[in-house]
Amino acid sequence: MSTSGDGFLRDIWYFAVPSSALKPGEVMAKTLLGEPVVLARQADGKPYALRDICPHRGIPLSDGRMVGDEVECCYHGWRFNCEGTCTLIPSITTEQDFDSTRIKVRNYPLIERHGGLWIFMGRPDAKNTTAGLPAPGLPEIPDFADKPNISVSMDFPCHIDHAVIGLMDPAHGPYVHKSIFWRDEKSMHDKAKDFGPSPFGFAMKRHPPSKNAAAYKILGGGIFTEIRFRLPGVRVEHIEAGRYHLCNLTCVTPIGPMQTEVHHMVYWTMPWLTPLKPLLVPFVKRFLGQDRDVVVKQQRGLAFNPQLMLINDSDIQAKWYFRLKKSYDAWRKDGGDFDNPVRDTVLRWRS
Ligand code: FES
Ligand SMILES: [Fe+2]
Repeated sequence: MSTSGDGFLRDIWYFAVPSSALKPGEVMAKTLLGEPVVLARQADGKPYALRDICPHRGIPLSDGRMVGDEVECCYHGWRFNCEGTCTLIPSITTEQDFDSTRIKVRNYPLIERHGGLWIFMGRPDAKNTTAGLPAPGLPEIPDFADKPNISVSMDFPCHIDHAVIGLMDPAHGPYVHKSIFWRDEKSMHDKAKDFGPSPFGFAMKRHPPSKNAAAYKILGGGIFTEIRFRLPGVRVEHIEAGRYHLCNLTCVTPIGPMQTEVHHMVYWTMPWLTPLKPLLVPFVKRFLGQDRDVVVKQQRGLAFNPQLMLINDSDIQAKWYFRLKKSYDAWRKDGGDFDNPVRDTVLRWRS
């Protein structure tokens, strides 16, 4: 199985950190899915990721530094290149015949795209490679979404599953996001939206947005929105406003069993929106903070390990998420075609 007891999906790409968090010539320690990872960036900008444990005596490589394009361990100066191959052991004399390149530290496939570093987290016991199996590519994010105009990252003190289903939940808006900028209970009304399968996930098909969504109003008329979710926890909302585009990208990454990072990026092509950025950043932080605060409260109840419910139709997306995870596990284990459990359907709820 690709998920182990921790419930984390493996053999899949996760959003690791925003690009801006890692400067050329720097190393950075990061725990992802409970694994210690060191992220490094060469002088030419190329990033790479290795297991953050020196194979010599176990000290984190992230306590060392970059020397040229290699990571140097702070304890005895062993150096590792972007493939994780040991290129230098300073204590070896010229007469001693020892091939350091036989020593390797685990390397993680890493790709930089849409202003973020994406890491492929394979199974811990297997070769960490996207080769061999038909690994899915990265999420399809619109081309214009190159460098985020806004990037906000937040820690959620919960398992990834609660962060994902909390963020996709269509019924919490009027209660959790009570705000003059958004909706309240008085504006609640019946909704019916078309959904269908999309690669490794599902989509709320392209439609004009809800009339009571004040935040959309500032974008002007002729608006359409499409929302896609895909494993392991990536939500892409693409809004078209006439000839302009706006994309909200939300990526959920497990740090540990009870710690999850939520990264939210906003990209747009409207030039007139850019001067409003100082107003929009606090809005995004506040919005995401409301989702985090409710998760913090939820943990006080979950501590008693209660039975939970998923009801129709407002929790059907959450049901799909769990089914998709199972399908993905089976597909990575058995091969064949990925069996997407989602079918074309209309979901109805009030919000
Ligand atoms: S512990 Fe890293 S070089 Fe010795
Ligand atoms: Fe929310």
